[in-house]
Amino acid sequence: MQLIIAGYDDLDNVVELVNQAYRGASSQGWTTEADLIEGPRVDREALVHNIETGPTTILLAREQTSDEIQGCVAVRPTENAEWYLSMLAVSPVSQTAGLGKSIMAAAETFVVERGARSLKISVIDARDTLINWYERRGYQRTGEIEPFPYDDPSVGVPLRDDLTLVTLRKHLRG
Ligand SMILES: CC(C)(COP(=O)(O)OP(=O)(O)OC[C@H]1O[C@@H](n2cnc3c(N)ncnc32)[C@H](O)[C@@H]1OP(=O)(O)O)[C@@H](O)C(=O)NCCC(=O)NCCS
Repeated sequence: MQLIIAGYDDLDNVVELVNQAYRGASSQGWTTEADLIEGPRVDREALVHNIETGPTTILLAREQTSDEIQGCVAVRPTENAEWYLSMLAVSPVSQTAGLGKSIMAAAETFVVERGARSLKISVIDARDTLINWYERRGYQRTGEIEPFPYDDPSVGVPLRDDLTLVTLRKHLRG
């Protein structure tokens, strides 16, 4: 799979895709946050901020025969040759066909080519099914648990008061 680096012109479509995948009706995709958090997951302003200060790269999977974006993921370097992956999303209508796995594999190749030795992700602890999916892709719990950012209105409106974030890491080489 070939991922394309998103440009500013793509951001409105990325916002739509991510919010639909993460927070759309639970019946649409096989795993969403809709039962845990209400409201948008991202907006254009946040994406521009992440691109310009992260520095975050947003990678897109496009339909071959059209310009439509089927999936996306964001990556940014942190420290000690570790990169952080977030915003993995596949359009609900395209899910369960292997696209999520392909995007993860291509994102891993992208960061390895830029010097990454490991990739880290944060997942809401209540999303067992999704954590299992990452574990089947080789990600392992680090034991770190971070508080959910209840004081940050930009992440949406949590519907529970007991959410935390678990960290998973995959060693990519060496
Ligand atoms: C997570 C996500 C990117 C996966 O994309 P996808 O294209 O559906 O994934 P794939 O087709 O590659 O893999 C489907 C997997 O789901 C599993 N699956 C399908 N339906 C399932 C169900 N009802 N319950 C549990 N697992 C299910 C399949 O067994 C397969 O896993 P396996 O190959 O390890 O057996 C996509 O569901 C998504 O965008 N979710 C909303 C956004 C989100 O939560 N992102 C991650 C935040 S950290």
